[in-house]
Amino acid sequence: MIQPAQPELVTVTIDGKEVSVPKGTNVIEAARLVGTDVPHYCYHPKLSIAGNCRMCLIEMGMPMADRATREPIMDPETGKQKIGWIPRPQIGCATNVAPGMHIKTQSPLIKECREGVMEFLLINHPLDCPICDQAGECKLQEQATGYGRGYSRFIEQKNVKPKRTQLGPRVMLDDERCVLCSRCIRFSKEVAKDDVLGFVDRGSYSTLTCYPGKELANNYSLNTVDICPVGALTSTDFRFKMRVWFLKQTNSIDTESSVGANTVVWSREGVIYRITPRRNDEVNDTWMADSGRVLYKEVQAANRLTAISANGATATLEGAIAAAAELAKGGNVAVVGSGRSSVEEQFLTKKLAAAVDGEAFLVGRVGEGDGLLISADRNPNTRGALVTGLIDKLPESDLSALGAEIDAGRVKTIISVGEDLSAAGLSAEQLAKVAIVFIGTHGSDTTAAAKVVIPTLTVFEKNGSFINQQFRLQKFAKAIPGPAGAIDDLVVLDELIAALGGEATDGDLKSVWKSLNAEVSQLANVTYANLPATGLLLDSSAWAGLSFPEGESLHFKPAAAEASA
Ligand code: SF4
Ligand code: FES
Repeated sequence: MIQPAQPELVTVTIDGKEVSVPKGTNVIEAARLVGTDVPHYCYHPKLSIAGNCRMCLIEMGMPMADRATREPIMDPETGKQKIGWIPRPQIGCATNVAPGMHIKTQSPLIKECREGVMEFLLINHPLDCPICDQAGECKLQEQATGYGRGYSRFIEQKNVKPKRTQLGPRVMLDDERCVLCSRCIRFSKEVAKDDVLGFVDRGSYSTLTCYPGKELANNYSLNTVDICPVGALTSTDFRFKMRVWFLKQTNSIDTESSVGANTVVWSREGVIYRITPRRNDEVNDTWMADSGRVLYKEVQAANRLTAISANGATATLEGAIAAAAELAKGGNVAVVGSGRSSVEEQFLTKKLAAAVDGEAFLVGRVGEGDGLLISADRNPNTRGALVTGLIDKLPESDLSALGAEIDAGRVKTIISVGEDLSAAGLSAEQLAKVAIVFIGTHGSDTTAAAKVVIPTLTVFEKNGSFINQQFRLQKFAKAIPGPAGAIDDLVVLDELIAALGGEATDGDLKSVWKSLNAEVSQLANVTYANLPATGLLLDSSAWAGLSFPEGESLHFKPAAAEASA
């Protein structure tokens, strides 16, 4: 395990409480560390400071000293150094803490400031919470509860602005709800590097829009919806589908690539409604790609497998395991594992390969990285296959080596753990020469040709872990139950290993982790239950010599780039 470096601390006093916070922290974040919320709209921890909403006003002062002698000026009443309070409130987002600084976030002046800002923000707001998709997670709604007047002094006509403007294929804008915080503009420019948004017109008529001829269509566009503090930007996929307070949140991991962006899966009664990013400052900050947000649709895909079959007929799990074991006992078996399987499943896949005395293959998926949160390695868990020992070198991009073994008659049975063998390069003729056992989630040419098919669970329906490109072990949790007929991959693998006389576990996470602790040195001291939500960096020195395909991404530098930096 790698220990992170400790930051330099400065001591400040917030609402009378002394606290040490990392140097360079602004007042909003410093207050957060002592459990105090400084309300804000335009500030976002991962964007530049705009300082335009004025909601984060605080009072600030420094200990006084004699100008000539620099001696502290003492307060005879308290016996402590006097504080020189700045007469006007300051914005907390643009004020960094300094040693000895005093801050007031709850004074009568600050309360009055917040009420004034809220009154201005609500003057032209349509107040359409009952039909607004942001209700329940709207900062304007939240702050109105704390600092709203409860009635309006505004008797003039409200401004009318464009409604339902499609900014891009996935993002809808309601300009009347926009509080002009500019978060979406800054995100597009600073993070997505797609500078398409801006304000036009002035004062109360300021309006967010795309530049002429442009649209908000980049693969990170939905992050603007996440960070819009109000209901101005909404997702065309999610809007009007479900009220957020009905949804259960489950921590998960984006499986699009080896970046392993941390996510939250939002579900209700076994149905997933959306996926949003989860903050991890070491991996994805607060962002994720749009393409990862629709992966939940695979759960209900038309080709989802739900029926166990063996030799062309419906079977029980016992029957299918017996049929698969029978095929494997004939010898000349190859096991195709997956870089999309969890660490635990890969570990059992290795045991399965040992039980059949067969070679283990892995399908490499390499595409173009986008330099942000989609890396060149499109498997979420290639490192898991290395750490568990399922493979000892980087996988080829197709199974042509296995194809050659089939053609030479050295492989007669293939057990595929989730991989579509034809998509991975095996021809129909090659598939026809072997008996296939398929353990996975979706139908394909491989399942059509398979002798035994055992349906299993998607990443949303089970617990497990992946190891990302940084060698960070990150866990995901079960958000919804699997469909009737689908069986946990660990159970299937374990039963098959047992049927083949191999080293089985109890087919659950706990027992697999007991074996992982005992047999994998990098995981010797890791407890699955205690894995931090933001993951655990493993010692990767054993694989330093491999040429991984990834280039730089948000928080990752390939070893060669790091060495030259
Ligand atoms: S649309 Fe939302 S994020 Fe963009 S400026 Fe308006 S309030 Fe801010
Ligand atoms: S958060 Fe908007 S001005 Fe500070």
